[in-house]
Amino acid sequence: MSRYLIFILAYCLGAIPFAYLAGAYKGIDVRRHGSGNIGTTNAFRLLGAKLGIMVLLGDFLKGALSAYLGLWAFGFEPWGGIVGGLLAMAGHSWNPLFGFRPSGKGVAAGFGIVTVLMPKVTLIAITVFVLVVWITRYVSMGSVTGALTVLILVFVFPQPIAYRVFAVVAVFAVLVLHRSNFKRVLQGTEHKFGTKK
Ligand code: G3P
Repeated sequence: MSRYLIFILAYCLGAIPFAYLAGAYKGIDVRRHGSGNIGTTNAFRLLGAKLGIMVLLGDFLKGALSAYLGLWAFGFEPWGGIVGGLLAMAGHSWNPLFGFRPSGKGVAAGFGIVTVLMPKVTLIAITVFVLVVWITRYVSMGSVTGALTVLILVFVFPQPIAYRVFAVVAVFAVLVLHRSNFKRVLQGTEHKFGTKK
């Protein structure tokens, strides 16, 4: 088997829409409720903590597994890990099953990828995420600041150039995918964690 097939597998893994599947199990189309996002936060919001945690684990693990498989297939060369990770994020966030429209914001999957590539960076970024959500009650702002923390730390700590490239591309995608959240925060209509609003 060509080792490049791993990248197709990574893309397909990324495209598994855990939030959509969990919603379908409960008879709720997550695309039509809450923020409409096919992701962990909307799953928590619409489906409750139990299914929310399952979606979080699914999204996190598909990112982590894709990055790991990419590393493994290319003799643990950093480039293998980032291509696997970026393809999983692409499959998740512009999902072919939903016509390549923006379908998920890539945060849980992204943290899975970063955990495999740079575990220390993940620990700090997740701490920032939790603190910001705790203070603001906006998951989206936690996601954005967590992602920006990854971007800063990848240039502060000695890291392979491939991981820096990954951080620039992935964080740019996360920011673009949060445009609607920025608008809602400015209008004062952004959903607050722990409310159904
Ligand atoms: O990770 C996604 C989160 O930052 C925002 O989700 O559903 O509030 O748009 P949502």
